Amino acid sequence: MSESFDVVEAYYRYVITSCVSKVEPVVVSSGSGATITDVNGRQYVDCFSGISVVNVGHCNPKVVEAAKKQLDRLIHACAYVYYLEPVARLSEKLAQVTPGELKKTFFSNSGAEAIECGLKLARKYTKKHEIIALMRSFHGRTFGTLSVTGQSGRRSYSMGPYLGSVAFAPTPYCYRCPLALEYPGCGIQCAKMIEDVIRYSTSNNVAAFIAEPLLGEGGIIVPPVEYFQEAKKILERYGILFVADEVQTGFARTGKLFALEHYGVTSDIMCFAKAIAAGLPLGACTTRREIADTFEPGDHLSTFGGNPVCCAAALANIEYIQEEDLVSRASKQGEYVMRRLDELKDKHQLIGEVRGKGLMIGMELVRNRETKEPAALETVKIRELCRQKGVLVGHGGTLGNVLRIQPPLVISQSQLDTAIEAIDQSLDEIK
Ligand SMILES: Cc1ncc(COP(=O)(O)O)c(C=O)c1O
Repeated sequence: MSESFDVVEAYYRYVITSCVSKVEPVVVSSGSGATITDVNGRQYVDCFSGISVVNVGHCNPKVVEAAKKQLDRLIHACAYVYYLEPVARLSEKLAQVTPGELKKTFFSNSGAEAIECGLKLARKYTKKHEIIALMRSFHGRTFGTLSVTGQSGRRSYSMGPYLGSVAFAPTPYCYRCPLALEYPGCGIQCAKMIEDVIRYSTSNNVAAFIAEPLLGEGGIIVPPVEYFQEAKKILERYGILFVADEVQTGFARTGKLFALEHYGVTSDIMCFAKAIAAGLPLGACTTRREIADTFEPGDHLSTFGGNPVCCAAALANIEYIQEEDLVSRASKQGEYVMRRLDELKDKHQLIGEVRGKGLMIGMELVRNRETKEPAALETVKIRELCRQKGVLVGHGGTLGNVLRIQPPLVISQSQLDTAIEAIDQSLDEIK
């Protein structure tokens, strides 16, 4: 990197960053495994994976090799104009590894585009137009995906209007139950409410119900195990398709290859991006054959979607996940981290709840355990203190008070211990 070039200054002058509250003050130079190195040579333990993307680690050698090989052969021709072998191989692989009857894939470049495709397919197949989504959900930044995102904070009025025909169901968020009930005595009323939403908030022309199996940006919210089973029963009764947004949860992150597997149900459409290609931009929407085949010429396309370099990388990425059994690794390490973080509750009153699955872990911070007043400023501060100690964690939640721990799944035990120690010390310092 050039000595005279000031990256931060150039960002300030030329990059649009007004859309985020802050760019973390780390000028990243390289990454390897779960380690990020900045331009000054300082190393950090990465516990955020570029927002849950590099599950197989930064610059995973198998992925790099596959991408380089493909770069030398062909970079672009357009997957929907010509036949490309990496596209064919990757879609075959997805048909094999995804749960249920999902057999055909459309490739795009991002999570939002994958969701757009899923919603278009659902409408086309059912010939209905309404969508039900969850409050506190997040599905992307395009107009379509913002329209089904259940967070007004992300749908600024001045950028609207957004799509009509979207109704929102209560979040299966036990720590802050929207129905003020308590699990398991609640009888999973939040799932049962989906029927009320259909009956009283739509015109009964619902094409799809879209949900993240674990809500990521919403604050690592883990729906109870019966939630999707109850939801599916209702959807089937009304002929509504289930679109599972696995953009953040997919590819072993939660200790299953796909998070929906925790719930023992399948979906009609599944959308991926983030960890699918270990950091190369790729989105995918996979569905049942009969749904896939309702698209007619002109209905959908993407110039770069299914880029052969990204697809070759994605194939190597999935093979690596399988060969190294990252599913079991995420599950075991996740249990360890959650147990260690949960133990910190005795020491730190600020910790309201530790939750998650696999290595998708959230720590919700509150000023008062009774009132659950969100400790948003403290969460920002703890993230900063962790960074100063050489550990990068994420921050999120609709109330801004959830620390997110989503490291590469190849992270070592000692790196995990370093991260836990940094969180513990930061909580000490903030008292
Ligand atoms: C669950 C979920 N869906 C969709 C998206 C949008 O993905 P992208 O940013 O690649 O468009 C995200 C991004 O964070 C996500 O977490």
